[in-house]
Amino acid sequence: MHLPAVFSNMFDFSGRQVCVTGAASGIGRATAVLFADLGAQVFVADRDEQALQELVSERPSSFRAVVYDQAHTSSIEELAAAIGDVDVLINNAGILLYEPLLQLKFSDLAKVVSVNLTGAITLSRLVGERMVARGQGTIIHTGSQLAYNGAEFRSVYAATKAGISQFVKTAALEWGPHGIRVNCVAPGRTLTPINQHLLQQPEQYSEAIKRIPLGRFGQPQDMANAFAFLASDASAYVTGHTLVVDGGWILP
Ligand SMILES: NC(=O)c1ccc[n+]([C@@H]2O[C@H](COP(=O)([O-])OP(=O)(O)OC[C@H]3O[C@@H](n4cnc5c(N)ncnc54)[C@H](O)[C@@H]3O)[C@@H](O)[C@H]2O)c1
Repeated sequence: MHLPAVFSNMFDFSGRQVCVTGAASGIGRATAVLFADLGAQVFVADRDEQALQELVSERPSSFRAVVYDQAHTSSIEELAAAIGDVDVLINNAGILLYEPLLQLKFSDLAKVVSVNLTGAITLSRLVGERMVARGQGTIIHTGSQLAYNGAEFRSVYAATKAGISQFVKTAALEWGPHGIRVNCVAPGRTLTPINQHLLQQPEQYSEAIKRIPLGRFGQPQDMANAFAFLASDASAYVTGHTLVVDGGWILP
C-alpha cells in the first residue's frame, strides 16, 4: 500500500538533527534506530562508550556518538555544546532504584535524583534555550507509568518520574509561545535490561503480566513509535502531555 504524502511527510525526518540520550540500550537504542530509519541524523548519547561505538559502527552515516554522564552538570553542558542546534531531543537516559524505603541509602537517593530528575531537567534547560532562540524544536522526556501508580521498592524512582511529568507541563507552558513543544512518554513495563531483576524471577514476571490488559510487556519499539509520534507533525497540537504506553496497566 502506498501511504498518502500528507501522512508520510509527517514522519519524514530527513535533514533533521535528533539527539537521543540513553541510546546505548533498550528504549533509547530502539528510538535512535527508528529516527535513523526515518531519515534523521542522530546524536546517540550515553555513558556506555563501548555500546555506543558498537551502535555507531552499524550505521556510521546516521549516528554520531557523544559519551557523557547525566549525573554531572559539567558533562551535560559538554553534551549540549556537542549537539548544538538539534530539532528533537529525546531526553531518555535514566536509572532504576529498587530498594525498600526503610533500607534506602541516601547516596542512592541522591544518585537517582541527580540522573533522572536534575540531570534530565538540566539537559532540557540547555537544549531548550537554543530551541527558544531559534523558535523551533521539540523535547520529549521519558517518564514512567510509575508516575501514576504506587509501586513497592521504587519510591524514589517513581518520585523522579512524577517530577518529570510535572516539569514537562511547565516547560510546555513557558516555551509554547516560542514554538517549542515539550512532552513525555511514560512507558509501562518494557523488555529492557533495566528490568533484569524481574526477568530473572519467573514467578514475579508472570504475576506482573497478569496485571497488564494487553497481556504482554512492552517492547522498546512500542516506546520508539510513541516518541516518533510526539516528535512528528502528526502531534503538532500536542504539548505538555504525558503519553502513557503501558498496555493498559494503569487502568484498574
Ligand atoms: N524498561 C522499563 O520497563 C521502563 C519503564 C518505565 C520507564 N523507563 C525509562 O526508560 C528509560 C530508558 O530505560 P531502558 O528501559 O531502556 O533501560 P536501559 O538500562 O536499557 O537503558 C538506559 C540507558 O541509560 C544510560 N544511562 C544510565 N545512566 C546514565 C547516566 N548517568 N548518563 C548517561 N547515560 C546513562 C545507560 O547506560 C543505558 O544505556 C529510562 O529513563 C527508564 O527510567 C523504563
